[in-house]
Amino acid sequence: MAKKKCPACNQLFAETAVFCPNDGKRLVDDEESPDKFVGLVLDAKYQVERLIGKGGMGNVYEAKHLHMGLPVAVKILHPHLVTDSTAVERFRREARSARTVNHPNAISIMDFGVTSDNILYLAMELINGLSLQEMLKREITIDSARTVKIMRQVCLAVDAAHQKAIIHRDLKPDNILLLDYGTDTEKVKVIDFSIAKMKESGKDPNLTSAGVVVGTPQYISPEQAQGLELDSRSDIYSMGIILYQMLTGNVPFTGKTSAMLLMQHIQAKPKSLREIKPEIPVKLEEVVLRSLSKQAKDRQQTAALLAKELEEAISASAQTTEAKKEPTREFGKDKGKGNGSLNDPPPPPPSQPPPVEPKKSFWQRLLSLVFAR
Ligand SMILES: Nc1ncnc2c1ncn2[C@@H]1O[C@H](COP(=O)(O)OP(=O)(O)O)[C@@H](O)[C@H]1O
Ligand SMILES: [Mg+2]
Repeated sequence: MAKKKCPACNQLFAETAVFCPNDGKRLVDDEESPDKFVGLVLDAKYQVERLIGKGGMGNVYEAKHLHMGLPVAVKILHPHLVTDSTAVERFRREARSARTVNHPNAISIMDFGVTSDNILYLAMELINGLSLQEMLKREITIDSARTVKIMRQVCLAVDAAHQKAIIHRDLKPDNILLLDYGTDTEKVKVIDFSIAKMKESGKDPNLTSAGVVVGTPQYISPEQAQGLELDSRSDIYSMGIILYQMLTGNVPFTGKTSAMLLMQHIQAKPKSLREIKPEIPVKLEEVVLRSLSKQAKDRQQTAALLAKELEEAISASAQTTEAKKEPTREFGKDKGKGNGSLNDPPPPPPSQPPPVEPKKSFWQRLLSLVFAR
């Protein structure tokens, strides 16, 4: 059985334990303990072969479909969540949402099941690739053209979801997988519709009550950070954060605590991308900053429009570069001065303003919010 281990005293604990009772340290997964699902056959159909990914809702395994002899991915709901009716309903909903999207850049789900031992699983296409998160760890920044190539595909999958009234709500590099990594044909698969919301389902089981924040703090929209009602434009903001991170190497907002980070999403202006990396085309910076508007009405109104603007920004910059064959400018040398080209940036804004001190009542409200994942 998979166990947790204390990094200080090395004692092993049950997989549900979080802190070491001896020294209070946060427990880590004990990599050496065998995984209890590897080797099992689920519903006489899926032979679980090896662990390939870990997530908040469940772990993902490579498995073999025994009747068809095909490799598949199987996501198994964490055993401690099997008795949590909200988690179980979300897991079911993940299967429904992903099936409804049905787009080449979104993961395809093939099956959902509950075994006689009460193991809940989803079977889906196996992606032999890297996550955008792993890619960013290796490469730190991605050049503008490749960023657009990748994010355009994310936009198309997300747009397909929006057209079916599904909001993903957890777009982040971990949930974007890449096939054919490092080749000209890198292909995106958006995964993890586990907290996706079907807007017009009529009988939404209200899995997140008002005032509860869902999502991942670095990537959530200002409205999501406040626990407000979301629409598809919240996903546009999250894609803006991912774009910013790919292009500059960092997410725009960080904070010592989740509450401070949320405040930044709500109030702070992101630093100019070109101040960090001057080679980013002006138009591309504009598109990304617009997607990061605090008010949803000021962002691109659809993911398809974001895809279009990204493509236009890149082709405009390719044309300008071709026409001028400009020498590369040295970072920081001519900041704000301009070199006479139409592509000149406006003078960079002063660096990020200090976050405005929030009113006490707001803090109280914010701190009472709970991360539901
Ligand atoms: N279809 C798949 N093929 C290959 N790897 C996958 C697949 N689905 C998920 N993974 C890996 O498993 C990890 C956790 O899956 P995810 O669906 O994000 O779970 P969670 O909802 O718990 O966050 C992902 O970050 C990814 O690395
Ligand atoms: Mg995930």
